[in-house]
Amino acid sequence: MIESNAVEPRTSPTIERRRGEWWRDGVIYQIYPRSFADTNGDGVGDLPGIIARLDYLGPAGLGVDAIWLSPIYPSPGLDVGYDVSDHERVDPLFGTEEDFDRLVSEAHQRGLRIVLDLVMNHTSDRHRWFEASRSSRDGPYADWYLWRDPSGVDRQGRPRPPNNWVSFFGGPAWAWEPRREQFYLHTFLAEQPDLNWRNPGVEAAQFGMVRGWLERGVDGFRLDVFNVFLKHPDMPSNPRRVGQTAWTRQVHRHDRDQPDFADLLTRFRALVDSYPDRFTVGELFDGGPDRAAALTTDRHLVFDWELIGAPWSARAFEAIVERRERTFGPDRWPTLVLSNHDQPRQASRLAASAGIDDVDGVAKAAATLLLGLRGTPFLYYGEEIGMIDVAIPADEIVDPPARRAGPDFPWWNRDQCRTPMAWTGEPGAGFTTGRPWIRIGDVRAGRNVADESADPGSVLAAYRRLLAARRARPVLRVGTLETVDAGDSDVVAWIRRLGNDLALVAVNFATDDRRVTLPSPGADRQWRPFAGTDPSPSGPTDGTHLTLRGLEGVLLEPS
Ligand code: GLC
Ligand code: CA
Repeated sequence: MIESNAVEPRTSPTIERRRGEWWRDGVIYQIYPRSFADTNGDGVGDLPGIIARLDYLGPAGLGVDAIWLSPIYPSPGLDVGYDVSDHERVDPLFGTEEDFDRLVSEAHQRGLRIVLDLVMNHTSDRHRWFEASRSSRDGPYADWYLWRDPSGVDRQGRPRPPNNWVSFFGGPAWAWEPRREQFYLHTFLAEQPDLNWRNPGVEAAQFGMVRGWLERGVDGFRLDVFNVFLKHPDMPSNPRRVGQTAWTRQVHRHDRDQPDFADLLTRFRALVDSYPDRFTVGELFDGGPDRAAALTTDRHLVFDWELIGAPWSARAFEAIVERRERTFGPDRWPTLVLSNHDQPRQASRLAASAGIDDVDGVAKAAATLLLGLRGTPFLYYGEEIGMIDVAIPADEIVDPPARRAGPDFPWWNRDQCRTPMAWTGEPGAGFTTGRPWIRIGDVRAGRNVADESADPGSVLAAYRRLLAARRARPVLRVGTLETVDAGDSDVVAWIRRLGNDLALVAVNFATDDRRVTLPSPGADRQWRPFAGTDPSPSGPTDGTHLTLRGLEGVLLEPS
């Protein structure tokens, strides 16, 4: 943290050199395809729907730089798309192969990149590889999954699992296959068997699939639970520890994060790097910023979960930001994630964590964090209109782990953050003319694109201002970051710096006004607000004093 004194300009050669790389400069917008826009009235979002909304996202609209699509592949839908039965095709539910190619070319025409979600740790149990693998201990696919003999029999004479590993989705991680008289491993659902990445055939097939999408013009990939691909080859039981759930009662020493994963990742990245301008982001499964930073390399980013796990507290955010700056250092680029398809909507979650009623106010202030901190922002669809979690009655639950939740297996129903995008205030929300696959939130209250577009005080208007400001100023995109002590424990402030360019960002986490002290921008210079959560952002009253409104975020530059 720097004290409230003069700010000296400084250059950062590493960052300067990397200016203009889209995956570092840009904002990546995550679409959950099922819930974005439905064009054929079957209640499920589709690729033509995304194509129809590209102008909303592209330079003529929000001005994001890339779209990450949650899985679009054929899937029995048990983990709503994350159980893939053919990684090389498009699920007809979403459209045709031609629709996908058209999406890529229409996106590219608007300067938007397409990032796919690669689910390579496991397949669906309906994948042809698994159907062959489970049918016999012989044959070309016999060793493509993680098969093990039982460790013995229990008192009833039933086969006992090979070790103590548990599934993240509840219950044991092993399922019995009578045809082979063996168990197979599933880190997630029993219908999501884990692949055996140590079999060279698996790697070759997966890499071939990846090459196929690169050839079709895909610009990058998000790698689902990538640090789980390799398990300890001998599969010893995990050590036990004290915890609240079956999952947390184990140290996950042997079922992920193996030393030879680094080599596998290097081979994968070499493949992606053999195409120009491509990028990947790995989803770290259950790990902290140290691990994320260690796995981050040039143009290959890693999600860590500290920001998404933080409550609405200035001190908590400041501590996380300072820690990640130290951990990533100047040469590794962090990601910024406040929500995704697995976690509560940020407006709901953050407002509830601090007992604040003004959820839209929190949504706007959070936007200042997402778009003002250092790193590549990932913006989950609907966050830009301040969408909130939608309560789902028990008999409408889709998310499979939520259906088996219980005292030893607490689970947050992920359906709540996966509801249809609200385009208008009409029934169907402009999302569908049919019956939506999952219920739509209350859109009449004005929380939709059409109504918010007409209101400069809306969450959407704030996002548009902040995105435009970020686009116009390299310092906000790629500048270094240093926190500033502004003299109020409910305010977080930081300086972004790129060569001689400076920007100062301040966010008031409290709901009442706060007077803060800014560092001096240098001799004969004044801080001037240029964007913020409010259409008319607060500026300094005298050189270094600024009164922020409740939940206000402002961006200032020297003039
Ligand atoms: C990742 C996905 C999640 C999915 C799981 C298993 O965590 O984000 O949605 O259920 O992997 O594929
Ligand atoms: Ca549809």
